Amino acid sequence: MGKGSGYGKVILFGEHFVVHGIPGIVSAIDASTDAEVKKAPKGINVKDERKTAKGYSEEKRLQQLESIERMLKAMGLDSKTPLDIWIGGTLPGFSGLGASAASSVAIARAISEELSLSLSDEKINQIAYEAEKAYAGNPSGIDNTAATYGGLMWFKKNPAGGPDSVEKLHMRRPIEIVIGSTGKVANTKAMVEGVADRKKKNPEKYNQIFKQAENLAVAGRKALENYDLKKVGELMNENHRLLQEICVSSKELDLLVDLTRKQRAFGAKLTGGGGGGCMVALTPGKDLQGKVASAIKTAGFEVLSAKIGFITY
Ligand code: MEV
Repeated sequence: MGKGSGYGKVILFGEHFVVHGIPGIVSAIDASTDAEVKKAPKGINVKDERKTAKGYSEEKRLQQLESIERMLKAMGLDSKTPLDIWIGGTLPGFSGLGASAASSVAIARAISEELSLSLSDEKINQIAYEAEKAYAGNPSGIDNTAATYGGLMWFKKNPAGGPDSVEKLHMRRPIEIVIGSTGKVANTKAMVEGVADRKKKNPEKYNQIFKQAENLAVAGRKALENYDLKKVGELMNENHRLLQEICVSSKELDLLVDLTRKQRAFGAKLTGGGGGGCMVALTPGKDLQGKVASAIKTAGFEVLSAKIGFITY
């Protein structure tokens, strides 16, 4: 049997904008997806035992199958190679946490081990990127890169298709965060396409917002590296406003963002594709983290307390 795992993530700055070549900052979180793979007599049989938002597995089933077929093809194998695949781990299947990329990385690693392919991390990352196309249509590559390597990263897609620019960032200490889930399963592909369509229809407005997103990523990097957490929080708030302007937030996301700010989170924003899925609040220290987490629970939403910026390399 082959085994593998992949990290979950939150995007601190720049989701959606990264698809269009604007830099983003992503951090792995201390929750991951695990996979086990065994050669099978026939079929691709997936047993998905992750904790998920209601309807997540059903909604993603076809995309998941397509992603596995894409993965096998990218490995130079028959896309119908019969396999028994188990998926589990500590990362919940909530939209926005890179659950699809984490599962692709975990499965690719497990296949590599089961079939003795000895694939490097670089190759696993490329394969997971191909798999991500099933879920996100035109992904930037930020999720699979975080899922493969972990850590805190500056990510800038190369719009010409060459190698992306990825830099590992260093922070003095990990920071506590709270993730709130709206419980709504989001379709990343539709969200990414929606932004591209609106940008095409309204280039002036969108180019101006995209420029602000670029400035925010640069300022966010500086604040993270200086460990100026108040500033990081303010910039996250600002980033959420830009995401509202490009119409990827939702009523529930805004409600959770407001609620966590009222509890004195340093900053809060949606994370990932939006339109449902999750938000992230910056809550340094166990006390603040606990307070914000229980406020989300009391309001009736699922919560995950985690950390960003722990170094895995
Ligand atoms: C999803 O986690 C982030 C998006 O920017 C899509 C992508 O970058 O591939 C919405």
